[in-house]
Amino acid sequence: MTAADHHRPIVESAPATATLQTHWRNEDDTAAFARQLAAQPLLANAFITLHGDLGAGKTTLVRHLLRALGVQGRIKSPTYAVVEPHEAPGLAIWHFDFYRFSDPREWEDAGFRDLFAQAGLKLAEWPEKAAALIPAADLAIHIEALDEQTRHVTLRAHTPAGQQLLQGLHA
Ligand SMILES: Nc1ncnc2c1ncn2[C@@H]1O[C@H](COP(=O)(O)OP(=O)(O)OP(=O)(O)O)[C@@H](O)[C@H]1O
Ligand SMILES: [Mg+2]
Repeated sequence: MTAADHHRPIVESAPATATLQTHWRNEDDTAAFARQLAAQPLLANAFITLHGDLGAGKTTLVRHLLRALGVQGRIKSPTYAVVEPHEAPGLAIWHFDFYRFSDPREWEDAGFRDLFAQAGLKLAEWPEKAAALIPAADLAIHIEALDEQTRHVTLRAHTPAGQQLLQGLHA
């Protein structure tokens, strides 16, 4: 360490793994990423938000992730119901889609507060639509479609658990 290092702004010492960028060339890459994510032990209690335009690939990633976690049978997506529960071996999963969420009373009425307090994996599309109610995500996955098949992906950790998840993906 040189004397000049002492004068560096503190922001530079933030962990380099707080964000991770990647590309998916096609849906096979998306599936491979889902398998990598599924292999992270910390996923079992994680809250992950999925960001991106309509058709970016949020649900597609969730479906590959659910399969990779061992969810069998037909995988229903939340459409009219805001949340769809799933069971993987030894793991409860809730897949939220807040796209049509408009009434804040539904948060309490549908028991979302209790649900977020439970153990299990929570995944949420369109968290922006419930921004005032939703807890902070461990990991935010931003998906941007570059063309029909290619996706630019940014992962951002917002909690220590999220950072550990990112480090696991990075390794
Ligand atoms: N690399 C890729 N990753 C994910 N999806 C891809 C990829 N390449 C092509 N696709 C296609 O893009 C579409 C993504 O649709 P999907 O329903 O997952 O989007 P979404 O982000 O959930 O949209 P919405 O906001 O409407 O819920 C699917 O038809 C999927 O097959
Ligand atoms: Mg979707």
